[in-house]
Amino acid sequence: MTRIINWINKLIIGVLLAAPALSNADPIHEAAESGDVDQILKLLDGGADVNAPDLDGTPLQWALFSNQIEVARLLLKRGANPNVKGWDGTLLESAALNGKTEIAKVLLKHGANPNSGDRSTPLIRAVQKGSLEIIALLLTQDADPSLATPDGTTPLHEAAHGGKLEIAKRLVDSGADVNALNGIGRPAIHFAVEKNHSILAAYLKKHGATPGKIASITDLLASADAAQGKTLAEKQLCVDCHIVDKYGPPLWNVVGRKKGSVNDYSYSPPFEALKGKWSFEALNVFLARPTEVVPGTKMNFRGISDPQMKAEVIVYLRSLSDDPVPLP
Ligand code: HEC
Repeated sequence: MTRIINWINKLIIGVLLAAPALSNADPIHEAAESGDVDQILKLLDGGADVNAPDLDGTPLQWALFSNQIEVARLLLKRGANPNVKGWDGTLLESAALNGKTEIAKVLLKHGANPNSGDRSTPLIRAVQKGSLEIIALLLTQDADPSLATPDGTTPLHEAAHGGKLEIAKRLVDSGADVNALNGIGRPAIHFAVEKNHSILAAYLKKHGATPGKIASITDLLASADAAQGKTLAEKQLCVDCHIVDKYGPPLWNVVGRKKGSVNDYSYSPPFEALKGKWSFEALNVFLARPTEVVPGTKMNFRGISDPQMKAEVIVYLRSLSDDPVPLP
């Protein structure tokens, strides 16, 4: 379809400009598109410019559009520029996005820059396509596993978003920064959690991903209102799971209690593996983003982002005790 549009554009512009110079470049482009190696050799030997652009690009771009890999090889050997950009990015990006391993290999062999992209990067395009083969190829050719697009998306963000576990592993093994933040300050693990890719989220966490900074609430506790917290706990549905329905463990005496330690409650395995006690700050972090802080938890609750509200809920939790622990 794009070719057709390009042809139409070419026709219109050609008619408008009636540019005689363009027709000189045509034979080599035509030969590149149709895979006519002999003709190309003849034209090149006769002095044709291997990088002559027409409206659709250079002869190399024409050859690649039409999958003429032998022609592409020949043109590259004769000095074609492997780093030209087309309408869908660099040639390497386009090969990666379309899963064309052979083309990617030929381009890299002849000097295509594995870290040069247009709006994206070759590696991110390969992640989008889901091609482990091209990803491996790019990484062995020195593609930077953490290189981001202009909006800060790294290959790992892309893999986390799409739930691509094997790809994420390959990237992390190659040194991708698990805590790289995108343009709006979010690490890859946010997307894994948000899209319910829990195994991938757990993998990232195990490899050092932190859920991003959560501000301390210690200073807010002294003036936080427990009655307000009770109302919030009801509104935020804590009580549905925890006190009324008993789907969650009882929260009586939870502040200061060992994490995941209610005897007759059946916690999820990641919850059972938790260490330490529920201090005010531990609760602050957990309640901010439960599924992210403990990937795989069965507490299916999006969290409370407002620090003041969180402080109120936490002082309310503290009040659920015959002998509330002192405030810090
Ligand atoms: C959808 C049900 C649900 C909602 C809503 C919910 N929780 Fe939970 N909560 C759970 C479950 C289930 C667990 C146990 C997690 C596990 O085993 O993975 C849990 C665990 C906890 C724990 C750890 C308890 C322990 O024994 O270690 C705390 C603290 C907690 N929730 C507080 C809250 C608060 C406060 C709210 C409201 C702001 C809330 N939860 C909302 C289901 C819920």
